[in-house]
Amino acid sequence: MKIALGSDHAGFELKEEVKGYLSKAGYEVGDLGTYTSFPHCDYPDFGYEVARGVSSEKYNFGILICGTGIGMSIVANKVPGIRASLCYNIEAAKLSRQHNDSNILVMGARFVDKSSALQMVKIFLETQAEGGRHLRRVSKIKEIEKKILKIC
Ligand code: RB5
Repeated sequence: MKIALGSDHAGFELKEEVKGYLSKAGYEVGDLGTYTSFPHCDYPDFGYEVARGVSSEKYNFGILICGTGIGMSIVANKVPGIRASLCYNIEAAKLSRQHNDSNILVMGARFVDKSSALQMVKIFLETQAEGGRHLRRVSKIKEIEKKILKIC
């Protein structure tokens, strides 16, 4: 399974931890930056690259990290086909897969500790979408996206 990974400077340290975890667990990882904790970088650049990688199906899932997770989730959800979930705990990460069939996990490095973040990554990647009534709702999201793309 291929995972696209991205962060800004605020998420850099946690991104490196996540990368280590994913590689050890046998995932193929595409690190799309940033590559240092130098603060002169902007989260939209990395959020867009990861979202585009997942939307184009080059990667199965994405993981994005910035200071709060808010900027990254705003950016990623602009890209068609993306359902990015900003999660601050393990249960939310699990539900984002079960109920929303989320394809990008977003975390805020300033609000989660390393151990919780790695547990969120694990549960996100190991949990299946539930289907049923949730599938109906996700289909509605896809319909809305189609309508918006027609207007644009
Ligand atoms: C960078 O200071 C910070 O604004 C960014 O990491 C993120 O939290 C934005 O939403």
